[in-house]
Amino acid sequence: MIQVASPIIGNEEIDAIDAVLASGRLVQGPEVAELEKSFAKYSDTKYAVAVNSGTAALHAALFAAGVGPGDEVITTSFSFIATVNPILFLGAKPVLVDIDPVTYNLDVDLVEQAVTSKTKVIIPVHLYGQPYDHAELEAIASKHDLLVIEDACQAVGATYKNKKTGTLGDIGCFSLYATKNIMCGEGGIVTTDNEEYADAMKRFRQHGMSGPYEYAHIGFNYRMTDLHAAIAIEQLKKIRQFNERRYHNADLLHEGLKDITGISPPSTAPDRTHVFHQYTIRVTNNFPLTRDELAVALRQKEIGTGVYYPKPLHFYDHIAAIGYQKGDFPQAELAASQVLSIPVHPKLEIEEINYIIKVMNTI
Ligand SMILES: Cc1ncc(COP(=O)(O)O)c(C=O)c1O
Repeated sequence: MIQVASPIIGNEEIDAIDAVLASGRLVQGPEVAELEKSFAKYSDTKYAVAVNSGTAALHAALFAAGVGPGDEVITTSFSFIATVNPILFLGAKPVLVDIDPVTYNLDVDLVEQAVTSKTKVIIPVHLYGQPYDHAELEAIASKHDLLVIEDACQAVGATYKNKKTGTLGDIGCFSLYATKNIMCGEGGIVTTDNEEYADAMKRFRQHGMSGPYEYAHIGFNYRMTDLHAAIAIEQLKKIRQFNERRYHNADLLHEGLKDITGISPPSTAPDRTHVFHQYTIRVTNNFPLTRDELAVALRQKEIGTGVYYPKPLHFYDHIAAIGYQKGDFPQAELAASQVLSIPVHPKLEIEEINYIIKVMNTI
């Protein structure tokens, strides 16, 4: 079976884990600090704060931004559930907007009409690894004095006008989950140039701790272990190589799939690099099979696929309860019924890519 995602774990990661185990210092040791230093350097931000998931990164970022009951946070209707759950946990209201049908990112033209006197933050998501249109969003954010927290969980290494994701807004949130472009099993990291936010996030990941058994405010245990940090340090060294393999694989897929009627391959908008966390095609009504039928047909040919995501966020009960219903975000709803991600990860062999192209064309 050709998997839709598969991490590359080398001897470097294994040796790094062995060294941490041998040191006996599994938590709050030097690896987390080392990862933060190298990630901040890579991102070109003043601070990077490691946590134990991308979800924790978003939660910590929203907390640092001061989001709480009565506040509204504008975000996309088409993302992983973790983009909105932290907003709800802080007692704030997610205000969803529809997506651009080509990039699948939030439609920036719809953001301004969603702004109210209660809006505090906008969370754009760089979906599938492609940056959203930051220039337009930034103009709205500064006009209304709003913070931008990037959900860059799928987009490590992607750029917008030559600036890396995670450095465009006020705070950037990354996931190091096992299937991400670089990973450590479970992990997350937050980037910012703002010292106050960085300090708040460092406290938040450790129960709000401001000194030995002193707690400045509420918090959780969102600490990353040194075992995870040791893997992430090694993965970060390989990020360019991993992402280049993804671009290359995506180019081959574009070329091989471009003439299939009814299939829309992903496209990259101007001024950005797409890191193809997912290579997501749209299976339109002009294709002889539905999206789900195509997924079954590919599976029968030993090709794994994924649907990210089968439902837009407002179809889930706890989000619909805010006051949303079917029909509110037609582009997100259509995308949820048509998108299909096929393998693009850096472990793929050229023969496997050619096989995927051949099978797709035959179907
Ligand atoms: C867009 C998006 N946001 C948030 C998350 C949450 O990251 P994690 O799974 O590391 O908590 C993910 C990861 O799956 C994601 O893809």
